[in-house]
Amino acid sequence: MQPNQPSASALISAFGRAYHSAHGDPKIFDDYLADKFFTTAQRTFFTENLSRAYAFFEPQAAAEITDPAQALAGFMRAQSLSITLSRARYVETILDAAIQNGVKQFLILGAGLDTFAFRRADLLERLDVYEVDHPNTQNYKRQRITELGWEVPARLHLIPLDLNQDDLSTALLGAGWNVGERALISWLGVTYYLAREVIHSTVRALAQVVPANSILIFDYLDADAFIPERTAPRVARMQLATQMADEPMVTGFDPQKLAVEFAPLGFELAENLGPADIQQRYFQNRSDGYYAFEHIHLAKLVR
Ligand SMILES: C[S@@+](CC[C@H](N)C(=O)[O-])C[C@H]1O[C@@H](n2cnc3c(N)ncnc32)[C@H](O)[C@@H]1O
Repeated sequence: MQPNQPSASALISAFGRAYHSAHGDPKIFDDYLADKFFTTAQRTFFTENLSRAYAFFEPQAAAEITDPAQALAGFMRAQSLSITLSRARYVETILDAAIQNGVKQFLILGAGLDTFAFRRADLLERLDVYEVDHPNTQNYKRQRITELGWEVPARLHLIPLDLNQDDLSTALLGAGWNVGERALISWLGVTYYLAREVIHSTVRALAQVVPANSILIFDYLDADAFIPERTAPRVARMQLATQMADEPMVTGFDPQKLAVEFAPLGFELAENLGPADIQQRYFQNRSDGYYAFEHIHLAKLVR
């Protein structure tokens, strides 16, 4: 992350969700508020830069395109939007069922510009939402909320915290977290960027503050993605792009060993979807060329 700047990947994820809300048909996940987090100048900045960036991801196809809108569509199709949309849909589907089942706490770790608390404000009558994020990104989000004239709902708890340095359980308890109440924890688009020891210590800390039957969901890259001769071209390009943006992807997991790795940390693996499963759930019969990202998995674990 650049010093004093919000996470670039968080902004690009939100920009992608806004793009899909305006252009996707059928929609995989409709984040109709995501666009609000961008000023007019930022919208122009991302539209121009991501249109140009298409040439980096698919040089041959991009060379034949002269219309910037088509180049932006190409970027969205070729790059990480399919990851962003499918993981958000996955979490909110499980969250709906968990709320029906009595879950009253929702923790969004590395929330970025997640709009859940505003988009589904009705649910905050029976749900406490905790958003933990790096201070650079959360400060930016707070500033945009203020500029938009929105109010932070009483049951949305914003916790600025660096997972590399700060104590997660102390911060949660200080913000009103109830250790006796079941929770759903969403950790989307973050494990890639953290060292394995930090992922492990974070999961151990989570296990200490949630009761049995709490749920932890995260997405992850598999270990093959980090082996140049095995990784898919667009994954290799995504890794290079994040490295250039000062947010290198450093950690992946072996899907076959995930259960064994996480059980000692306090969570049992309940579901582990690979690209073929994600393709079948969210991308079948689409005519817009979106498909599940290679090497990306969705894991659901239970305390
Ligand atoms: C790719 S964005 C994902 C944002 C959001 N979950 C989404 O799906 O759009 C990665 C997020 O992880 C956060 N993050 C990265 N490193 C972090 C750290 N050391 N501590 C806390 N948050 C971190 C960033 O601030 C950013 O919000």
